[in-house]
Amino acid sequence: MNRQTTFSYLWPTLFGTFYNPDHQKIKKDLIKFFEEYKKKNPSKKSGENFKLYESNYDLHLQKGTAFNSLLKNFISKSFFEMSKQANKDFTMLFKGKEIGVTIKDSWFIHYEKGGFVLPHSHGQCSWCCVYYVQLGKDATKTNGGTYFQKPIPNRNTLDYGSYYNKFLQAQFTPEEGKMIVWPNYVMHGSYPYEGTEDRIIVSANAEVSVMENSKPIKTL
Ligand SMILES: [Fe+2]
Repeated sequence: MNRQTTFSYLWPTLFGTFYNPDHQKIKKDLIKFFEEYKKKNPSKKSGENFKLYESNYDLHLQKGTAFNSLLKNFISKSFFEMSKQANKDFTMLFKGKEIGVTIKDSWFIHYEKGGFVLPHSHGQCSWCCVYYVQLGKDATKTNGGTYFQKPIPNRNTLDYGSYYNKFLQAQFTPEEGKMIVWPNYVMHGSYPYEGTEDRIIVSANAEVSVMENSKPIKTL
């Protein structure tokens, strides 16, 4: 029997891009909250990162803030949509069940001119996100953009025949009100932003679970 040669790309990685239609309405209040937060919590060391202020990871636990009243709902809904897309062939898993999003961590970063974050991945969660709160119109993929590295560790030097494979990296154009979601294992970082306005972003980690009495019992 003659069998034909076939080629396959396996294990594609799901990324989601969401747009907040209310961003321009909430931007000013979010930035005001961040400015007040910075005054109350003076700058800590930014570790291996460069020229930035990073908040603690518990914005979602602080009651009555602009983050919770204006943005948390949009972020949670987007995480939920990601989970639906990832499990779209298994809708029976969701039928008749209460599904909920639990934000595990959330924080903001205010970059100074030229600030950036080196490649890293996040901890215990299913999904991670970046939400662009403020950027100048001059932002591009490589001026303040977020990049993602292929989610497979290199075990040897890439050879000439595979190095220019376009699937080895991904870059996204940053825009105010845009949110990018990815699985927790993907290494990512930000390009320095040399723009006219400081780059301000929110990041969050989440899990999507079957809930009982509003408490997660099984993480999807
Ligand atoms: Fe990150």
